[in-house]
Amino acid sequence: MSRIFSGIQPSGDLHVGNYLGAVKNWVALQHQFESFFCIVNYHAIIAPYEPADLRRRTHDMAVGLLAAGIDPTVATLYVQSQVPEHTELAWILNTITPLGELERQTQFKDKASRQEQVMAGLLNYPVLQAADILLYRADVVPVGEDQVQHLELSRVVARNWNARFSPDTPFFPEPQPKLTPTRRLVGLDGQAKMSKSLGNTIGLLETPDAIWDKLRPAVTDPARQRKTDPGNPDLCPIIYQLHRAFSPEGTVREVEENCRGAKWGCIDCKKSLLTNLVAELTPIRERATELQSHPERVTEALDIGAAKARVIAHQTLTEVKNKMGLPLA
Ligand code: AMP
Ligand code: TRP
Repeated sequence: MSRIFSGIQPSGDLHVGNYLGAVKNWVALQHQFESFFCIVNYHAIIAPYEPADLRRRTHDMAVGLLAAGIDPTVATLYVQSQVPEHTELAWILNTITPLGELERQTQFKDKASRQEQVMAGLLNYPVLQAADILLYRADVVPVGEDQVQHLELSRVVARNWNARFSPDTPFFPEPQPKLTPTRRLVGLDGQAKMSKSLGNTIGLLETPDAIWDKLRPAVTDPARQRKTDPGNPDLCPIIYQLHRAFSPEGTVREVEENCRGAKWGCIDCKKSLLTNLVAELTPIRERATELQSHPERVTEALDIGAAKARVIAHQTLTEVKNKMGLPLA
């Protein structure tokens, strides 16, 4: 069976962008692939943070993933810092990663341009990401579009290491991204990518009332000023994207016709979306509430996941060190 690996930062709350771009796919793929899902807290400490807060956010992310449908008896779900081989392999891979490849990463350039003092970890972030994936020799990485460039780098790293240390039979597969139909969900501002740091999100665990408070004023087709103006659903940045993801096909057609024919106003369309959104999110929210009152179940699932991950991580690193002339303990 092929392997998949993916990671998510412990931001605390999952949002609908993470869900549609990645996590919903993880839930489906866990039954088709041997799956590793990692809460990447070593990636998260690149930004300033409070230790107690990070601990809470890590736990909450595990709750969100389990509630969304990751089954810890099927997939391996764990926290990155519980498997020290990630950072060990990251150092090794740093030695065969060209600096130029790191300097041209869009995310690095964006973030570095907004910081007074840029830490080395920000530059090396994609090397740790490559280590995450290669440690499990994963073939497929289900992510949103913003991670595609990082995966290109992972393939360069795999290729470089194979060429240098395992030229006859490539040891690391070159991991391919797996995108969903919602590879980049726009945020409630109708402009930027939905992202926690931009405050334009719908949280996966928010109540129907809270979601409605956000949806009601959300930006729609800007050319449609009045209900009597015909709209263009393709120009409606988020609502139509969400309908396509959450509503049955018949509803999507109905929305489209009623929008183009000026039969529905945007509020009618949003009400229909709310019904379908809430239908999918309510069971997730209820499972999360249940898990929040049993933190020991979450910790146990993560501990079991880390133990399973370490077995594979140790095997890979043993072979890597052997091939590189690095004595083992
Ligand atoms: P992050 O929260 O940045 O760790 O992202 C976790 C996963 O969600 C990654 O695979 C991202 O590509 C994906 N993701 C985050 N935001 C969005 C978005 N607005 N649309 C689609 N995918 C997203
Ligand atoms: N960089 C990813 C993000 O910000 C998170 C991540 C870390 C990841 N390691 C990974 C994703 C490995 C896929 C595979 O979303």
